[in-house]
Amino acid sequence: MRTKIVAGNWKMNKNLEETEALLSELSAMLPDSTAEVIVAPTFVNLQAALAALQGSTIKVSAQNMHFAESGAYTGEISADMLLNLGVDIVILGHSERRAYFGEDDAFLAKKVKTAVEKGMKTIFCFGEELEDRKSDNHFAVVESQLKNALFDLDASAWQHIVLAYEPVWAIGTGETASPEQAQEMHAFIRKTISDAYTSSVADGVSILYGGSVKPGNAAEIFSKPDVDGGLIGGASLVAADFVEIIKAI
Ligand code: PGA
Repeated sequence: MRTKIVAGNWKMNKNLEETEALLSELSAMLPDSTAEVIVAPTFVNLQAALAALQGSTIKVSAQNMHFAESGAYTGEISADMLLNLGVDIVILGHSERRAYFGEDDAFLAKKVKTAVEKGMKTIFCFGEELEDRKSDNHFAVVESQLKNALFDLDASAWQHIVLAYEPVWAIGTGETASPEQAQEMHAFIRKTISDAYTSSVADGVSILYGGSVKPGNAAEIFSKPDVDGGLIGGASLVAADFVEIIKAI
């Protein structure tokens, strides 16, 4: 059985007090669920989030990290710094990192390598842009993102990988991939991994869908056999909405 996951990517939202308030609201409302629930506040509030969630089943993730051990990388955060705090989950390759900070697959491959070597659960994001889909290039784009960022990993490293397919045209736009489009792509991703590794590697990896998941569309998207949960942006900032999405798993 693959792990079902609902992860909230808070992006650059919520100050310290707002972080604590949202987590206390969320903890109070958290339904019993078989899904692993993860929240990713901004770096400066990770420690407060861990403190607020002591004794809770909700896990804390970082939104990014650097690939180097340590050193002259002003403004960056290392895997060891996160682990030292008690954060062992990281989101890498989000489309906003790719679009605004120039992170490409070769660069992300280094980050993923470090994260998995450190034993961190690595939520790797990827997905095509609108132009790729319009030109029917979306499968080729996704295949190349996987190949260039992940396929140098050993099969054993895949135990640490969670994939998040996020078509760029659906992120923060209110536009969602239809449940059929999500399923079609997730099945393609699993097949691509199976061809590059083995079917057991492919069957074991949780593939989340991300892009305008809301309480109203989550259940239908999550009902698809190759969709193992969601990476939620905007709707994860409102406790009641995030809870409804967790219930939809
Ligand atoms: P969204 O963001 O749910 O606001 O579309 C998803 C994401 O960026 O991970």
